[in-house]
Amino acid sequence: MTQTSPAAASQASRSTRDPELRAPIDAPIIQVTNLEKTYHTARGALTLFRGLNLEIQTGELVAIVGQSGAGKSTLLHMLGALDAPSAGTVYCASTNVAALTQKQAAAFRNREIGYVWQFHYLLPEFTALENVAMPLLARGLARRDALATAANWLREVDLEDRGDHRPGELSGGEQQRVALARALVNNPRLLLADEPTGDLDETTANRVFDLVERLHANHGLTSILVTHNLDLAARCTRALRMEGGRLVPLAERPQTEHGAAHMSGKSSVSGTW
Ligand SMILES: Nc1ncnc2c1ncn2[C@@H]1O[C@H](COP(=O)(O)OP(=O)(O)O)[C@@H](O)[C@H]1O
Ligand SMILES: [Mg+2]
Repeated sequence: MTQTSPAAASQASRSTRDPELRAPIDAPIIQVTNLEKTYHTARGALTLFRGLNLEIQTGELVAIVGQSGAGKSTLLHMLGALDAPSAGTVYCASTNVAALTQKQAAAFRNREIGYVWQFHYLLPEFTALENVAMPLLARGLARRDALATAANWLREVDLEDRGDHRPGELSGGEQQRVALARALVNNPRLLLADEPTGDLDETTANRVFDLVERLHANHGLTSILVTHNLDLAARCTRALRMEGGRLVPLAERPQTEHGAAHMSGKSSVSGTW
């Protein structure tokens, strides 16, 4: 009979039971090794990454910046089991993401990943409260319980008085706060945020980032924030730049370029936004 340590048992309970899909105990929460991604299009093959490596420890809040088209969203999609790598391994939240079947990937996303995009993708015909409750209802929770939990999450994002508003009756910042509440309502371990402040003015973007920081800390999240805003990137525990299919520490960015981006007042990395 095999002995199972408490750590292994708790890990197994959160991930799939198939040992092939599990990361070694005490591995970083995200471990990407030799990642390659090639899209095959009518115009030929487009290879985004070759030999991309990334390790993220539990509790980190990591910023990823880089030019438009560098592959930032593609990387998040692979971490979140929304897309499969062409080669290499992606361990995320103790799971070998690329080896999941579609059904396992859906369950993995529900359980482990909170996703926020540049656009909120709230359902326009439902209220803020119903939108936040949606992932719980999809999991089969009773409506009353789902709405009660959703109300708690609306309080967490300081929108308890906006529960009956439809998305069209909310400001851009409020819509993103509802989207954050919806992303976290299932208590995932990871928050993947793809330019969540990209569509907001500077003051609102700062406030939404303040909220991300607070939720990150209060809920023991590990978070990745893709952003074009270097000031926000600097507030993360670590900042990386995607360039030429690799990730390098942002601090290694040539000083002049970095300074110029700051001086533009828009903190744009690519200069095209
Ligand atoms: N499904 C796809 N098929 C073909 N090419 C794609 C697909 N998704 C993204 N790309 C291409 O991959 C590159 C990286 O895209 P993306 O990850 O969205 O970049 P970023 O988020 O850094 O702006 C872009 O040139 C884009 O056109
Ligand atoms: Mg993108």
